[in-house]
Amino acid sequence: MNWRRKSVEQCLELAEKKALRRSLGALQLTILGIGAVIGTGIFVLTAVGAERAGPGLMLSFVIAGFVCAFAALAYAEMAAMVPVSGSAYTYSYAVMGEFVAWIVGWNLILEYAVSAAAVAVGWSGYMAGLLDSLGMHLPLALKAGVFAVHSGGGVNILAAGAVLVVTCLLIIGTRTSAAVTAVLVCVKLAALAAFIFIILPKIDWAHFTPFMPYGFASHDVDGMAKGVMAAAALIFFAYVGFDAVATAAEETRNPNRNVPLGILGSLGVCTVLYVLVAAAAIGSTPYQQLVGNTEPLAYILRHLGFVTVGNLVALAATLALPTVVLMMLFGQSRIFFVMSRDGLLPEVFSRVHARFQTPHVITIVTGCLVAVIAGLFSVSEIAELANTGTLFAFIAVSVAVVVLRRTQPERPRPFRCPAVNVVGTLAILGCAYLFVSLPGLAQVRFWGWTVLGVIVYFLYGYKRSPLGKSAPAPA
Ligand code: ALA
Repeated sequence: MNWRRKSVEQCLELAEKKALRRSLGALQLTILGIGAVIGTGIFVLTAVGAERAGPGLMLSFVIAGFVCAFAALAYAEMAAMVPVSGSAYTYSYAVMGEFVAWIVGWNLILEYAVSAAAVAVGWSGYMAGLLDSLGMHLPLALKAGVFAVHSGGGVNILAAGAVLVVTCLLIIGTRTSAAVTAVLVCVKLAALAAFIFIILPKIDWAHFTPFMPYGFASHDVDGMAKGVMAAAALIFFAYVGFDAVATAAEETRNPNRNVPLGILGSLGVCTVLYVLVAAAAIGSTPYQQLVGNTEPLAYILRHLGFVTVGNLVALAATLALPTVVLMMLFGQSRIFFVMSRDGLLPEVFSRVHARFQTPHVITIVTGCLVAVIAGLFSVSEIAELANTGTLFAFIAVSVAVVVLRRTQPERPRPFRCPAVNVVGTLAILGCAYLFVSLPGLAQVRFWGWTVLGVIVYFLYGYKRSPLGKSAPAPA
């Protein structure tokens, strides 16, 4: 087993650290967080979550929000201390050694690449709905993957096509500018606010009883994981992306104050919105009616007579979700890039395009893989797999933060996680509970993927890592 580590200093040097200007305040961080977070989770998975938990879905959103808040505070301490690309992969390299870092990096593929696929599939549901409303009806074989529906599915060409377009944009160096992010945050917030204000008054309180028709803990009912925790483990996806705030710690003014405000602010806004959307959706429409719906918020509005607003909400989702795909794919290509630079992946992956100055090889490889996943699978299955990798990475980072406080207490920490032992432990336990609440198949896929990662490491990275060639392993 290989426990050789890079020191925190080595991480900083290797990345040719440049000092970034500290310009972000709490409000900008909150906007950044909301921009990265709101997406397919609330716009699409609400329907699947309702099927799993009934009205208890509201509780699921609160639980997942709290776990994310704990994990985010731990994440922020690490991000501020080791402010280099590579996120949880780099942090783990510094604290727990190359082998654990490889496993974390390998599983970050699930967080970033697989999430991108899930968001693209979520987007395709709204896009197909919009096309329908314009009289252009796609056959099921072209709007659902072969593994996504029991019969009639083929290749979701909208989802796969969206991923390929975003991949091209990334190759030519497109990034979402702060102004575009701000506009899209407004579009998303306006869509969710319109849904809440219009639908909330239509609530029939009878729809809230029984509140937890499938109980609290996750358990199998006719082949589907059900219960409040089963839904929480799925809709955890709706919060994925808030690490964007943590990783911006280096660019934040007075990070000790503004980073927690930004994290808790964006998670707080999202949690309140999510609970209200869930309450409006389930209170206005029997949740059984939402089963299998790929554009539930637009459907509910249209169904209750608000056809134009329904179409506008669909349009908002159609406009805003591709930027979430872009951010996810961008994150993935940069993590691969860092792993390749460290010698754990082939050097060709870190080649930079002469004209566009982007890591085009790895972006193309990632984009093609993600397009295949998006084209063939269902949004909930993909999101569950993405959640396994994300939860694993959060656990690794939370462990790293608690360990580093003990082993290197004097190291400067621009942001200190408050009550780190309590917060870190709650993050680890909360993420672990969400992980085991996921369907068995997602967990099996995760472990299969991890074993594959171990094999790849010993066949490739173990021998090639420059760290392995140059330095003896620290004890
Ligand atoms: N949280 C993001 C979404 O729900 C990934 O789309």
